Amino acid sequence: MDYCIREVDGSDPDVAEAIERLHIAVFPGEIPVATDRGYWWLAWNGDPEGRPIAFAGLWSSVRFAQAGYLCRAGVLPTHRGHGLQRRLIRVRERKARSLGWRWLMTDTVPYNPASSNSLIHCGYRMYVPAKPWCIGDDAIYWRRELENRP
Ligand SMILES: CC(C)(COP(=O)(O)OP(=O)(O)OC[C@H]1O[C@@H](n2cnc3c(N)ncnc32)[C@H](O)[C@@H]1OP(=O)(O)O)[C@@H](O)C(=O)NCCC(=O)NCCS
Repeated sequence: MDYCIREVDGSDPDVAEAIERLHIAVFPGEIPVATDRGYWWLAWNGDPEGRPIAFAGLWSSVRFAQAGYLCRAGVLPTHRGHGLQRRLIRVRERKARSLGWRWLMTDTVPYNPASSNSLIHCGYRMYVPAKPWCIGDDAIYWRRELENRP
């Protein structure tokens, strides 16, 4: 597999449509996230002119200074198992550093071992926020302090 990942403009209608299509495929039954805010990436298997096979987003934290939120990531089932989510975490970390952010946070549902293991692989630690932001009490919260390197 020859994957390539590019940052894209979520406010571009073609990009928004591509992310929505992927979102529907990987999160069936969930309302797709709006892509007109934050930073977005698409991944292709080979030709970036073709249909993307994965996506990820990054938002500036609304609660904490110098912090970001890994908002969504999804890989089409036929392309899972190749560490793409890990790569999508790394590109977002690079972006966060370039923005001068110090922390990245996210949350997972408990029955998502691939997602949790990608975060563990990338150095994230579970924690309990003072004010949990997810509905329900079964979310797992993660954060990582970014090193001060470019
Ligand atoms: C979660 C998701 C993005 C992972 O994509 P991926 O890049 O194919 O992930 P991988 O299959 O490479 O697995 C990532 C890690 O989990 C491990 N893993 C995969 N499936 C696993 C399972 N069933 N049980 C335990 N570990 C598992 C892998 O070994 C890998 O660990 P490593 O980094 O230490 O090698 C993908 O499954 C997906 O799109 N799921 C639906 C949407 C979703 O849940 N998104 C995340 C929350 S926003």
